[in-house]
Amino acid sequence: MLAAAAPGRLAAAVPMPEQQPRAVARRIADRFPRRWHRDYVRSKLRFDPAYAAVAAVVAEDASPLLDIGCGLGLLGFYLRESGFAAGYRGIDFDGEKIAIARAISARHSLDLAFDDGDAGELPPFSGHVALLDVLHYLPAAAQQRLLRDAAARVAPGAALILRNVLRERGWRFRLTVWEEYFLYASRWMRSPAVHYPERGEIETPLRAAGLEPDVRPLWGSTPFNSFVIVARRPPGAAVSRSP
Ligand SMILES: C[S@@+](CC[C@H](N)C(=O)[O-])C[C@H]1O[C@@H](n2cnc3c(N)ncnc32)[C@H](O)[C@@H]1O
Repeated sequence: MLAAAAPGRLAAAVPMPEQQPRAVARRIADRFPRRWHRDYVRSKLRFDPAYAAVAAVVAEDASPLLDIGCGLGLLGFYLRESGFAAGYRGIDFDGEKIAIARAISARHSLDLAFDDGDAGELPPFSGHVALLDVLHYLPAAAQQRLLRDAAARVAPGAALILRNVLRERGWRFRLTVWEEYFLYASRWMRSPAVHYPERGEIETPLRAAGLEPDVRPLWGSTPFNSFVIVARRPPGAAVSRSP
């Protein structure tokens, strides 16, 4: 279980970035040793609205954050730049990405924890949970299990922040399916997209776990059919299955 705040830090105050997003993206990207990582990270952080969306939600409550499928740890790096001072644990089954994230955190004394692990075996945790662009890499039944497991780790007053492509009619969804195909073919992603969930497949298990999901499009300047779901557990509410 993570402590609520990293040692020597105050968890409660979480000011949002005052710097230009471009400067934040550049500062984080410059920490990566490989040039193509630097280029990817700079443009991802500059144009993807997901990281700022998570920062806004975690600012509401000083709980630590579990980042499932954290990849290169961009969310953790972004949150530290935003003033997020609570504990952070990222988990991903891509050991190479985890090693890179870990090395950067250590080199810059960011106090972020990264584990090489599978989303199917989450550690004990209580706080906020992030699940950004991960769900569609799992089969439908495993998605339901992960949503239940993730929801069980959301503390009262905290939230699960999930961003995913939803299965819908329309060009955005078709384009996203193509993009995922190329990500896998280029070996950037270790596993192919398996199942794009419909909105109800996400909302139903979260409601059953006592969370209150709010679903909104989160396209930003991307052409993808992405939605953000912020599922809060009301303060004082009981957690039905505490991991
Ligand atoms: C599109 S990337 C998103 C990375 C990160 N969440 C972000 O938004 O910056 C999806 C990540 O999920 C990870 N992933 C997919 N299936 C996983 C699983 N079963 N367990 C752990 N990580 C997984 C992949 O390795 C990849 O790093």
